[in-house]
Amino acid sequence: MCGIVGYVGDESAKEIIISGLKSLEYRGYDSAGIALNKDGKLLLRKESGVIGNLEKRIKKNDFDGNIGIGHTRWATHGAPIRENAHPHLSCDGRIAIVHNGIIENYMELKSWLIKNHNVEFKSETDSEVIAQLICVYYNGDLVDAVRKAVERMRGAYAIGAISADDEDRIVAVRKDAPLIAGIGKGCNYLASDIPALLKYTRDIYLIENGEIVVVSRGDIKIFDEDMTRVKREKMHVTWDAAAAEKGGYEHFMKKEIYEQPEAVNKTLEGRINAKGEVKLDGIKLTKKELDSISRIYIVACGTAYHAGMQGKELIENFARIPTETDLASEFRYRDPIIDENTLFICVSQSGETSDTIEAMREAKRRGARILSICNVVGSSITRESDDVLYTWAGPEIAVASTKAYTTQLVCFFLLALYMGKTRNTLPRKEYDRIVDELKKLPAKMSDVLGADDHVARLASKFAVREQIFYIGRGSDVGTAYEASLKLKEISYINSFAIAAGELKHGTIALINRGTLFVVLATQDRLYEKMLSNIEEIKARHAYVVGVAKKGNNRIRRISDDTIMIPECSDEVAPILAVVPMQLFAYHIAKLRKRDIDKPRNLAKSVTVE
Ligand code: AGP
Repeated sequence: MCGIVGYVGDESAKEIIISGLKSLEYRGYDSAGIALNKDGKLLLRKESGVIGNLEKRIKKNDFDGNIGIGHTRWATHGAPIRENAHPHLSCDGRIAIVHNGIIENYMELKSWLIKNHNVEFKSETDSEVIAQLICVYYNGDLVDAVRKAVERMRGAYAIGAISADDEDRIVAVRKDAPLIAGIGKGCNYLASDIPALLKYTRDIYLIENGEIVVVSRGDIKIFDEDMTRVKREKMHVTWDAAAAEKGGYEHFMKKEIYEQPEAVNKTLEGRINAKGEVKLDGIKLTKKELDSISRIYIVACGTAYHAGMQGKELIENFARIPTETDLASEFRYRDPIIDENTLFICVSQSGETSDTIEAMREAKRRGARILSICNVVGSSITRESDDVLYTWAGPEIAVASTKAYTTQLVCFFLLALYMGKTRNTLPRKEYDRIVDELKKLPAKMSDVLGADDHVARLASKFAVREQIFYIGRGSDVGTAYEASLKLKEISYINSFAIAAGELKHGTIALINRGTLFVVLATQDRLYEKMLSNIEEIKARHAYVVGVAKKGNNRIRRISDDTIMIPECSDEVAPILAVVPMQLFAYHIAKLRKRDIDKPRNLAKSVTVE
């Protein structure tokens, strides 16, 4: 997820581009850059960190021009350092590009460019390949060169390009990454998102997949893949800037809940090949090393810990390695049994959580191998890990984690499949079945988002409650814990999660007439048990909202309300079941007029103990 801004006109391109990039910081802010064409020469400035760092660097007036492209980055390939920031220049310095997305076959293209054109790469990114490829095909016609270059690419991209030879045209193309063109007066704009342009224009063209757009001072031309001119109706944007930043959603949390199908898709992208084999970039664990692992610890905090609960089930089921989960704040003060045959998996969205960092360092001191699952490239945890498996969820702005959680679960699937296959502990038929389920996940997550209105109606019945219980068995326990935390942290309701089998050991004493229970019953193998638990609490006059897979109708008969998720395997059910739970928490918090994106007392990353 990165932000793109382009401008061509008679004003200062740098002012307009910097202003646009600042409104896109929610798409990425670990580095930024800008390229301008000034009198037939490309000027380039890039800086790591927030856009303000770049702004300071380009204050001097000698750096300006009337056509340029800018970029704010959320790193996926390559650390968030200046060299990896966009724009990237071609080796002859005559072409500059910005890119949002992931080029899956960039290594293959990079090798071809080095071998056949002696290209010397300056960065570790996939995006730089684009600049060099366009340069190879460039013979004065930038549109033609861009077309030829993208024909060789696989993956997702929104690309903007300028050349030193042309002070009036920005050429852009998109596939599975957002791109718009903005209509000005005597000038025109390019951007990845609407917020970047709202200060200058509300009239835009939405660019569709496969289209090429040529933005010049006097006009905006859109072409399809065959270079046939496309007549596109302009769109007038009515959103205000704040709403635009949230993509039209009222809160970042809602936006991020709805981004989950795309985030899961991006996290899977390039990691299951055409033959259905799992290929994990960043994981260097060999078969010999995997076979020597005698114990795994999964250690994290909060939502990341709940992901670890699911990860334990998957790794033990697929790879048959004894695995335990622990809270980082506890682990760091234990005297854990660790040796060189221990694998320590730390899970963290931010990669900066103090408890998790210190737990990781303690494990490292005792000889464990460190594997991290993280959403922020180059964060502290990733820099100290032996192996890193990134969630490619993009920036998660809301304090309450949603898309980071579901993509952490996806990473645990990929890791457990890789381990199981490498150790020959997972039959091929089972392996193929799970891979097939993962491929269907983004579509099923979109389906389950369709339950939003139904969940909102349920939330309106319970928003006044001051106590809500979540129960489940098997992998539904982790979902119950996560559902309860979501509700707690944004609605301030005292919710409580417990393994259903534990109820009779004391907690059942808390049931009063009408006490609300959300019962997760998505595990076929434990379904009957969960029906008994519902009977048990109904006998004490509790109010039950059952959560189960479509087709399980008995739960409808004995519950007061139900939320159904698409049919799926027991293994992937937690990824689907958590979505209505996130929505349930969101709608209740909204009805209680809470500060949903920034709940009281909470920080997005707990960098202190
Ligand atoms: C989750 O919604 C909370 N914001 C919190 O529990 C969070 O998961 C926890 O602080 C861990 O953060 P991390 O994933 O960045 O390490």
